[in-house]
Amino acid sequence: MTIKNICCIGAGYVGGPTMAVIAQKCPEINVTVVDINEKRIAAWNDKDVENIPIYEPGLSKVVAEARDRNLFFSTDVDSAIYKADMIFISVNTPTKTYGIGKGMAADLKYIELCARQIARVSKDDKIVVEKSTLPVRTAEALKNILENTGNGVNFQILSNPEFLAEGTAVEDLLDPDRVLIGGDIDTKNGKEAVEALVDIYAHWVAKERILTTNVWSSELSKLTANAFLAQRVSSINAMSELCEKTGADVNEVAKAVGMDSRIGSKFLKSSVGFGGSCFQKDILNLVYIAKSFGLEEVADYWEQVITMNDHQKKRFAANIVKTLFNTVSGKKIAILGWAFKKDTNDTRESAAIYVSDYLLNEQADIVVYDPKVKEEQIYADLDYLNSRAEEENRRRVTVVNDVYKACDEAHAVAVLTEWDEFKELDWQKIYDHMLKPAFLFDGRRLLQKSAIEDIGFQFYAIGN
Ligand code: UDX
Ligand code: ADP
Repeated sequence: MTIKNICCIGAGYVGGPTMAVIAQKCPEINVTVVDINEKRIAAWNDKDVENIPIYEPGLSKVVAEARDRNLFFSTDVDSAIYKADMIFISVNTPTKTYGIGKGMAADLKYIELCARQIARVSKDDKIVVEKSTLPVRTAEALKNILENTGNGVNFQILSNPEFLAEGTAVEDLLDPDRVLIGGDIDTKNGKEAVEALVDIYAHWVAKERILTTNVWSSELSKLTANAFLAQRVSSINAMSELCEKTGADVNEVAKAVGMDSRIGSKFLKSSVGFGGSCFQKDILNLVYIAKSFGLEEVADYWEQVITMNDHQKKRFAANIVKTLFNTVSGKKIAILGWAFKKDTNDTRESAAIYVSDYLLNEQADIVVYDPKVKEEQIYADLDYLNSRAEEENRRRVTVVNDVYKACDEAHAVAVLTEWDEFKELDWQKIYDHMLKPAFLFDGRRLLQKSAIEDIGFQFYAIGN
């Protein structure tokens, strides 16, 4: 089976970069990325390729090469589905905010809508690939909808979880540790569908890095990988608090521990807490599914990773209040960084949102600077929490595009995203324009303690 036309539903952080790389590497395949969000599609089609809606190092170059050659962005979902031999579903799967499984289970309504639309539009056989992060057994639900509402068309469902990390998406896509493809490998049609997707990746990924499994293993592997990674961050963050009490330094501990080749050095960077669209959601999915099978101990075990992460964000914020003489009411606090990590404009579950919300509840005035996040996104993130009136968020939070202005006359500065540019700032200048004593809280262990303290700052760094 040779794939000529690919459709990807969802032009977000997963669909956009993944399809751009597939189009770049497979010039003979037409790739159409569709989305119902007209503004987003218009931005993907912007003449100035630097205006694409997702900031990822190297992405604009890939898009520039493939766009309008064999990579297209469109809002016409139906015709892209109709033409495609293979359809990727990369729509968002937020955590449910209502009903059964509220705050825990994934909300599959967007996935279900896609499945119904695919069933309605398709006139010939298609391979449907789940790319969104999904709870285990979603493929089965997809299959059910497609088979019962379709026009007698045959659908093969594959699971092809995305392991790219934001900020390094292009690199991760071009040189993945592995590509995982789950399918109905016990049947001839299923095997052929799996092979068709293997062939696409084999354009640039070595065959031994392309793993094929059954669908459930593939779906569960994605949740497991993210749960393990998040667990490492929570583990080192748990140690950061102990370090602060005992006089140990979490960076030294992480280095010593990470040099054990059985443990390894990655994902041991202590922080103000992990964020992003995947870790929390995937663990909650895991907890929910464990609970639904009555596996209480398994559920509790993984839930603790989230508990630790919430604690880390909260204790960072509480420490600011405590250090500023137990009150931040009416004080100006500069937040440097709003994205959940550097090199992305994604803010989903970012620690900055929760730290700021805590400080706002303590009546602080917040000024935010982030090199890539737009003002409207910052307000939307705070409004989403529903902690106070939207008008109050706009009154108490100011967003600026000059980092020095953000810190001007501030009582305290908190570094919450590890943007490289924060290392290069003129911290003497910042100090000179702050109120004294000038407090600086480093939630990312980004700054050099001795240099910062020499300037005169009252300095706190996580795990030190
Ligand atoms: C993650 C997985 O890494 C990726 O494979 C999956 O496909 C999606 O979820 P992502 O959320 O984009 O990717 O970023 P990641 O680099 O994993 O970081 C997640 C969070 O953990 C960030 O907030 C980051 O700052 C934090 N983190 C990461 C730490 O605090 N310390 C670390 O050592 C590593
Ligand atoms: P992710 O990080 O998983 O890529 P995003 O939220 O960045 O998530 O992107 C998901 C995209 O999917 C959004 O742009 C949204 O508009 C789009 N989307 C959701 N449902 C549909 C649908 N039924 N048809 C087309 N696009 C959809």
